[in-house]
Amino acid sequence: MKRIIIAIDGPAASGKSTAAKLLARKLGYVYLDTGAMYRACALAAKRARIDITDPLALAALMSRIKIRISFAEEGNIIELNGEDVSSAIREPDISLLASAISAQRLVREKMVELQREMGRHGGVVLDGRDIGTVVFPDAGLKFFLVAPPEVRARRRYLELLQKGLKPLYAEVLQEMIARDEADSSRELAPLVPAEDAIHIDTKDYGIEELTELLHRHFLKRAEGQ
Ligand code: CDP
Repeated sequence: MKRIIIAIDGPAASGKSTAAKLLARKLGYVYLDTGAMYRACALAAKRARIDITDPLALAALMSRIKIRISFAEEGNIIELNGEDVSSAIREPDISLLASAISAQRLVREKMVELQREMGRHGGVVLDGRDIGTVVFPDAGLKFFLVAPPEVRARRRYLELLQKGLKPLYAEVLQEMIARDEADSSRELAPLVPAEDAIHIDTKDYGIEELTELLHRHFLKRAEGQ
């Protein structure tokens, strides 16, 4: 059977990455976490203490960073200039910075090029904000996952707690709403569903059920081919 490209887009903590990872595993596909790439750029900018709205400083930074993604059982391993930053990019302050830096054209161009290169042979599940609209508008299957802000904030809050951090639920919720708003209203590659995306509200599903549902859509699409 032809190995297609599967695009999973949606707002923060809507269940994209877990579902994408499990679906990829089920299909023997590769999973690509595109948000992690923007997070790695944000971490690089934070460490270099640059003003990300300064075009020269940003161009200089982008020309000297190398982002590499490899695939492990537990997910993607992200390297920034040879250093494994898979945990460092999940710090809460990196989320907002990733959203800000991802609105910059230079950054998006570089990341989208990398994503297209990695996905061009198919057999890949990508999750992000613009996969079905910009990165792979011809993807064979597109999902748009949503859930109410409170449900998503609760998920992110629990994830952070599990990591040993001491998050405040109200702060997590507020930060997430602000980030979704910024991602949806930006000029470049805003967070909007592709016209042909299948919309799913993930609040009603456990992760296994959600993966099953995506898999059923995949089989239906494959039958139709
Ligand atoms: O995991 P979470 O949903 O919180 O965020 P993420 O997927 O790691 O993405 C972090 C940020 O990167 C988002 O808020 C977006 O601003 C940006 N992003 C993007 O612009 N385009 C993508 N394809 C993926 C992420």
